[in-house]
Amino acid sequence: MEKFVIRGGKPLYGTVQISGAKNSAVAILPAALLADSPSVIDNLPDIKDIETLGEMIERLGGKVEKGKHEIKIDPSGLNSFHPPRELASRMRASYYLIGALLTKFNEAIIPMPGGCNIGVRPIDQHIKGFEALGAETTIEHGFIRIKAKKLRGAHIYFDVVSVGATINLMLASVKAEGTTILENCAKEPHVVDVANFLNAMGANIKGAGTDTIKITGVDKLEGCHYTIIPDQIEAGTYMVAAAATGGDVYVKGVIPTHLEAIIAKLVEMGVTVEEYDDVIRVRREGPLKRADIKTLPYPGFPTDMQQPFAVLLALADGISVITENIYENRFRYLEELKKMGAKVRVEGRSAIIEGVGKLTGAPVYATDLRGGAAMVIAGLAAEGITEVLDIYHIDRGYEAMEVKLQGLGADIKRVKE
Ligand code: EPU
Repeated sequence: MEKFVIRGGKPLYGTVQISGAKNSAVAILPAALLADSPSVIDNLPDIKDIETLGEMIERLGGKVEKGKHEIKIDPSGLNSFHPPRELASRMRASYYLIGALLTKFNEAIIPMPGGCNIGVRPIDQHIKGFEALGAETTIEHGFIRIKAKKLRGAHIYFDVVSVGATINLMLASVKAEGTTILENCAKEPHVVDVANFLNAMGANIKGAGTDTIKITGVDKLEGCHYTIIPDQIEAGTYMVAAAATGGDVYVKGVIPTHLEAIIAKLVEMGVTVEEYDDVIRVRREGPLKRADIKTLPYPGFPTDMQQPFAVLLALADGISVITENIYENRFRYLEELKKMGAKVRVEGRSAIIEGVGKLTGAPVYATDLRGGAAMVIAGLAAEGITEVLDIYHIDRGYEAMEVKLQGLGADIKRVKE
């Protein structure tokens, strides 16, 4: 087991390079299986979830050549629609293999997806969509078995806005006969990224990034060369770290329009943010002001950013409220933040945070990926030493976090226990 040991209280200064988007990459790799020839995907984040997905693709018969930030996937030898449970259950996004393998083989057997424990995470909207395309689904012994004689285009209205269901239904309908209309779709930048990748392989997808996506089935897809978009949540995490420590950081390699909700909230809290082409400068000299946050589907404030912001709110003047509208149990990390002196009360879907001005170092757990990132930021801003335990959660989704932070002058070490 590894942990981070952080000596806090040092403002961050310098430039940090943002990696490719995790939540794009975990969908684009399965999407590459739909072609008849190899794809090369670059700006790949070097994170644990990608390693796991690469192994899974190999176990399905795909040929994978992986560099640090690039992967070549040759799907021509694919011979299985049944990824191993021990790998699939490690990550939530293994559910994208359902859509991809269903298109490839008309059949898939996938263990129920794992991932962060942030509340009930049903996949009923994915299943409703697959069934509308003509598939039959059974759930037995912890596996989802899904089978279709033929996939046919359909009109599907999602009851909830879901990133996973929107992307999975694009994967399942891209070669279906006729036209599929998806309504009430998620509009996240990674939904658009996956559609762009599929279109680069020869798909006919229109409207990604709006509520309605139209997919006209094609017979054939060919591999392509594709560059993944920057990770907006990783960027937001470093922006908040700069603000929390009272530093001055250039966050580089980003698409500023993907970060508008995060930038607006930082500015509201008294942080100075300057936007350039692909760089955002974040600095703070004065005190942090209180703010309320409501998480919403994109372009609203992302649920994956409320955790870093909770640290800022704990350091701000006054009482703030975070309302978590996406997941019903995404506040477990606040118990850890309390160990560092935060004053927090959770009532249903709201967290009421009374600013305390300063935090103090303590041993704390990364309860999940984004909760873990929040503990690191809290440790950087706190007085004294913080140990963040269970950092395997952080490694699933952040590339070399301690190395990037050291580059900004942070006193953080990865230590084997
Ligand atoms: N939902 C349903 N039924 C479904 C699907 C979703 O009720 O069939 C509900 C969920 O329970 C949740 C809401 O709809 O309340 C939104 O879920 P969504 O499907 O959008 O989330 P997801 O696909 O499970 C992805 C990211 C999450 C991120 C959310 C929201 C991946 C692999 N995961 O999850 O990322 O929080 O979208 O933006 O793309 C993370 O990166 O830390 C992370 C958890």
